[in-house]
Amino acid sequence: MLSGIRNLVNSENGLLDRSIFVDKDVYQQELEQVFGRCWLFVGHESQVKNNNDFTANYMGEDPVLLTRDSKGKLHAFLNMCRHRGNRICRADFGNAPSFMCTYHGWTFATDGKLVGVPGYKEAYFEELDRTQWGLVEARVETYKGLVFATWDASAPKLIDYLGDYAWYMDVLLDRRAGGTEVAGGVHRWVMNMNWKFGADNFAGDGYHVSITHGSTRFMGDPSRAARSAPLPNSDPNRVHVTFSYGHGWNSGFAAKKNDPTLAEIAPDLNSQNAVAREYFQDTYHEAEQRLGPVRAKMTSSTLPGQVFPTFTWFNAARVWHPRGPEKTELWSYSIVDKDAPEAVKKHKRIQLVESFGPAGNLEEDDGNNFVQCTTASKSLIARKYPINQNMGNGHEGKSELAPGLISPHIGEANQRALYARWAEIMSASIWDQIKIEPRTWVKG
Ligand code: FES
Ligand SMILES: [Fe+2]
Repeated sequence: MLSGIRNLVNSENGLLDRSIFVDKDVYQQELEQVFGRCWLFVGHESQVKNNNDFTANYMGEDPVLLTRDSKGKLHAFLNMCRHRGNRICRADFGNAPSFMCTYHGWTFATDGKLVGVPGYKEAYFEELDRTQWGLVEARVETYKGLVFATWDASAPKLIDYLGDYAWYMDVLLDRRAGGTEVAGGVHRWVMNMNWKFGADNFAGDGYHVSITHGSTRFMGDPSRAARSAPLPNSDPNRVHVTFSYGHGWNSGFAAKKNDPTLAEIAPDLNSQNAVAREYFQDTYHEAEQRLGPVRAKMTSSTLPGQVFPTFTWFNAARVWHPRGPEKTELWSYSIVDKDAPEAVKKHKRIQLVESFGPAGNLEEDDGNNFVQCTTASKSLIARKYPINQNMGNGHEGKSELAPGLISPHIGEANQRALYARWAEIMSASIWDQIKIEPRTWVKG
């Protein structure tokens, strides 16, 4: 293990050593310490609705299969035959009672058991203990439709790992009694960037919006235009929410009655698109009953949050799968209310593709910045100079309205917390050394 990780991250002063984005040893340690033991998003329950459904995904660089076995139980398996290591499934998703390896034919059921071995009698003389050679299985837990998995048996429960942050995730996941589902398939694309630049941005970089996405002011959507207006830091309702767990959220809540900034805070309720606006207004009462008045207004269109390390959510979900220190594969899902009319689901899906799809206007704006920041981190000259993320340091506080540490919308508290958590997890040898606090906001 590398020593001195904590010397590369100075969260008190908001300084970062650029080597953490490109150093191969740091990256190897990340695969082991971060991706080998944190809870990672592996799919949505709606992707494996029926018994024997499966969908492929990754945990870090490892290919995995999320399955629902023949009795309805969810599993996440390393997509690797236990014989020589061939992938047991090459399909992205489907329904099958078992997976036969294409090399020598070992066959595994959707519950991971090794159920078929060619030559079991003739070649193995029935001496192979098949119960010992099932698929390698990760621990799986769900939060309101989202499925997460971890390789570490000693990791805290998912609900404790999310902590009070789950209170905010309900804005996306629990607006309606029917919950959510994935609409359409999964977009994937590869970028020459370190995964942390993506996590850092979606954890709550309100600062870049007016500059990077400035062109949206001319695109006719007032809700987007409002969000890209220059530095609205004077608005006390636009906030960062920071968690010591490295999760972050960047949005707002209407602290005042009849808040004139509601258009910015609740873009769906004020959408220019009549289908979306009517749907969110029609279902507002149900959302308020379920979530309370503060969260009911936090509609989730393009208001990003980040669950440490790589799960981003807004009106969608995306994962920053690492593919080496300088490469990241993005997977993007449109997540919609299951009970919404088809026209609303279609609108949300197209809205996602237009904004944060592989050729989306906001995605194009962001992506080049992430690539440039990664490239700069390789320079030996540049590395003599740390990254600055010290904005608003010391201006965080508590709110009566919502959990977490609240700070101004334009600030870098979330980034400081993210890298502090990263350094903590990178330095700890066991989960017992990693801080987990009791949840306080069980219900909104
Ligand atoms: S590698 Fe799968 S059966 Fe040999
Ligand atoms: Fe952006």
